[in-house]
Amino acid sequence: MITILAIESSCDDTSAAVIQDGMLLSNVTANQDVHKKYGGVVPELASRAHQANIVPAVDTALKDAGVSVSDIDAVAFTRGPGLLGSLLVGVSFAKGFALANDIPLIEVNHLHGHISALFLKEKGVPHTDPEFPFLTLLVSGGHSQIIKVNDFFEKEIIGETIDDAAGEAFDKTAKILGLPYPGGPLIDKYAKLGNPQRFKFSRPKVGDTDFSFSGLKTAILYFIRDEHKKNPNFVKENLYDICASVQYTIVDILTEKLKNAIKQTGIKEIAVAGGVSANSGLRERLRKEAKANGWTLHIPDFKFTTDNAAMIGITAYHKFLRKEFAGQDITAEARLKNM
Ligand code: KG4
Ligand code: ZN
Repeated sequence: MITILAIESSCDDTSAAVIQDGMLLSNVTANQDVHKKYGGVVPELASRAHQANIVPAVDTALKDAGVSVSDIDAVAFTRGPGLLGSLLVGVSFAKGFALANDIPLIEVNHLHGHISALFLKEKGVPHTDPEFPFLTLLVSGGHSQIIKVNDFFEKEIIGETIDDAAGEAFDKTAKILGLPYPGGPLIDKYAKLGNPQRFKFSRPKVGDTDFSFSGLKTAILYFIRDEHKKNPNFVKENLYDICASVQYTIVDILTEKLKNAIKQTGIKEIAVAGGVSANSGLRERLRKEAKANGWTLHIPDFKFTTDNAAMIGITAYHKFLRKEFAGQDITAEARLKNM
């Protein structure tokens, strides 16, 4: 039996999970509310909150899993990409835990983790793994990519954003509208009540499978500024329609690019991952497209879309099987590539 304790601390969620033989036993996440009033994550505050949260999160994860420290065979952590100060808390904790218990250390790339979330299994919950090769639309607060996943450790980037990530498009729009951070979930909520066809925004001109969201952000900013001049209550009176229209535009761009990648590769085994895959508009649209076009669609359980340690744990389990361990000299890397 292989039991792994996993830590995720790359941004503003402190998360700990226990995975046993590839089966998730527990997953505990402490969210940080301190960033809400600043309209974005404040790195300094995030690192401090991780320090306060990490030991209680691990304690709870072990308790929920019904295992003790002596049952743990390896400890895994997110090495990057992410905020350096945040990553350092997880890396340092994991190193200390590995040393104290004389167990191996496993480093995980956060983005690899988001993709691995598609393979998470819980007792009593039906689940189907995607079949290799499959295409993943990986959309989070920091990344937007279309990735061809050839096997657990071999991936090719088919397309990516040339500027902002999809999550940033949601969060920056929310900020323009005066909504608190993170804006994605709120836009999603209000979009359900609005008319997605009410306002039209122009589409970026980039490669067939690449994204660009900074132009959309500027278009929304100017649009709101101009309407606000005519009616100071414009946002308040039209919030639901604005959210629905913006969400429709982002989802439509993501879907169109994914379709181009499908055409290019001929692959119809499709998955979506990352925080933005929690978006109900995107989930619904992809389900519809899958049905109409004969794709097999894999969407992670809602709780595994945004940052969590379970996805780090399942990646680490596969690394454990390959005996890919890290040394005590490993460092956190804010811009880690090599997925
Ligand atoms: O994967 P994640 O938790 O962190 C990163 O690795 O970046 O993604 C966070 C992003 C944020 O931009 C957040 O606004 C977005 O995911 N997000 C959503 C929704 N839930 C989270 N965006 C749209 N709709 C949602 N329901
Ligand atoms: Zn993430």
